[in-house]
Amino acid sequence: MCGIIGYVGSQDAKDILLDSLELLEYRGYDSAGIALADPEGVHVYKRAGRVQDLRELCKEGVPASTCGIGHTRWATHGGVSDRNAHPHQKGQVALVHNGIIENYRDLIRKFNLEDQLVSETDTEVVAAVLDHYYRKVQDPAEAIRRTVLQLKGTFALVVIFDDKKDEIYCVRNVSPIVMTTFDGNIMLASDVTALGGYTNRYFVLPELCIATCAGGEISLTDLAGEKEVEPEYITVDWELNRAGKNGYPFYMEKEIMEQPEAIAKTVEPHMTDGLSDFTAEGIPDEIFTGCDRVCIIACGTAMHAGLVAQALVQSILRMHIDVEYASEFMYSNPVLDEKTLVIAISQSGETIDTLSALRYARSNGAKSIAIVNVRGSSIAQESDYVIYTNAGPEIAVASTKAYTTQLSILYLIVARMARLKGIYTPEETRAFLSNLTKVPEVMKQVLDKKVEIHKIARKILNAKNVFMIGRGLDYSILLEGSLKLKEVSYIHCEAYASGELKHGTIALITEETPVVAVVTQEKIFAKELSNVKEVRSRGASVILFVKESLASQIPEDEQENIFVLPDMADAFMVMPASVALQLLAYYVSQDKGFDVDKPRNLAKVVTVE
Ligand code: G6P
Repeated sequence: MCGIIGYVGSQDAKDILLDSLELLEYRGYDSAGIALADPEGVHVYKRAGRVQDLRELCKEGVPASTCGIGHTRWATHGGVSDRNAHPHQKGQVALVHNGIIENYRDLIRKFNLEDQLVSETDTEVVAAVLDHYYRKVQDPAEAIRRTVLQLKGTFALVVIFDDKKDEIYCVRNVSPIVMTTFDGNIMLASDVTALGGYTNRYFVLPELCIATCAGGEISLTDLAGEKEVEPEYITVDWELNRAGKNGYPFYMEKEIMEQPEAIAKTVEPHMTDGLSDFTAEGIPDEIFTGCDRVCIIACGTAMHAGLVAQALVQSILRMHIDVEYASEFMYSNPVLDEKTLVIAISQSGETIDTLSALRYARSNGAKSIAIVNVRGSSIAQESDYVIYTNAGPEIAVASTKAYTTQLSILYLIVARMARLKGIYTPEETRAFLSNLTKVPEVMKQVLDKKVEIHKIARKILNAKNVFMIGRGLDYSILLEGSLKLKEVSYIHCEAYASGELKHGTIALITEETPVVAVVTQEKIFAKELSNVKEVRSRGASVILFVKESLASQIPEDEQENIFVLPDMADAFMVMPASVALQLLAYYVSQDKGFDVDKPRNLAKVVTVE
């Protein structure tokens, strides 16, 4: 969703801002803008459309400036238009905003703003209130402080003033801002991806602190302006470079191909002598031994990783586990107490639904562990403990390597719990985890056959509806596979527990409805295959992803459109199967000529509830 960038230093601000806005494109947006400060004041350029359109607008007549702010907007309050795009300028103030101001209507009344507003946004109201106070006090930090005290809601606000041509101010509540300095320059952004290439060292602006960026330095004070606050820098070992797609046509393909390496990087630091180890994270064993139920909260793909964990926790640990959409969690009166271990899973660490659910769970006594990809993100900071996936930056909206690295951490957690609860001996734990260390190699075998999957993908290219069927763990895998196909190909696809088809849904199966079946679980494969027969008998063409050791059981006349997945223990077949389904979705989208990395209407980082 909305992205923020700010720069003040010695270089040309326009180019830096536009390049950084491009790095923020992946979050999803529908308009973009920049504001540049020079001795004459602040100049705003903005328009609905892509950053490329903004570049065109800024081609000529833009003053030289070394200080500016920029924004990509994902419309919430007010439609997609030039006027509603950020930055919003009111009097001496220009600002960009992420988040939602809940009381903007009250503020319009309180400050008599009705006749001054030209947009339909909550943001312009903040700009007007801030300008009101700035005129009064002529002190940026004090004006911001007074404004913030008026606001209800979430916000990351980045401001420039027309008489402070080399200064940027920011403040936030919930919505993140990351900041850094390098060689006398200052950069800030809504997420670390936009700092790409300049530095791998940054800090997250603490909530309700006012940051003043001037003279190559950032100073932080608490909202009252009474105390200085020290920034806590984080260093990441990601390559925050601009090399981008590395020769691949889309980030999604690059990220699918990166999975073996990402998984190895995620698993290795958490293994000691063949056993899972979270001492580096400081997670005490009691958090695992002291819980009698587990609750996973997450959204989208991350929630699907939770569903795989559910199967493992139930079958291996024999424990009660709930997996909930974070957006539904608080409203479902969940059973929570100090014996509940809540695991919040999030690639970005900023999904507001997951963050709110985590806060709710903690306030009700639950202990929490977050599985997060982005260091220093809000969910990472607010959880009792955090385990990072080392997937590196994930840019494509459709999540791939984040999912499989999240799964890797979940396997490690289950193994740790099984060991601590005495369910597995050390030897059994090692045997279980030896499957996990084999995953990168097994995944490579699938990736090496991507041309085969591309061929198979052509079979569903023109379908309007697709069903994906399987049972048990295969069904969990397909929920994610089907989400991938929907997200990037816009084909309606439903994952269905194949035993349930006959209770209604089979009415929708015709020759026009391709069916994707995943068969990887030895215990239930005979039943899965008979469900496949049921749909074949109704004319459906079937694409079959089957585990190698089971493939010989498929009759010869049913071997068309079959992809053989390399063997792993059943509990780990989710890994090769998921990669195959990711590639299937990717190739359908690519062959349809879509912008695979930026599916319509979707956002990578979802910061509204
Ligand atoms: C958005 C993205 C999905 C993602 C979900 C959760 O909807 O488009 O790809 O799975 O958010 O994101 P998170 O960052 O919390 O994993």
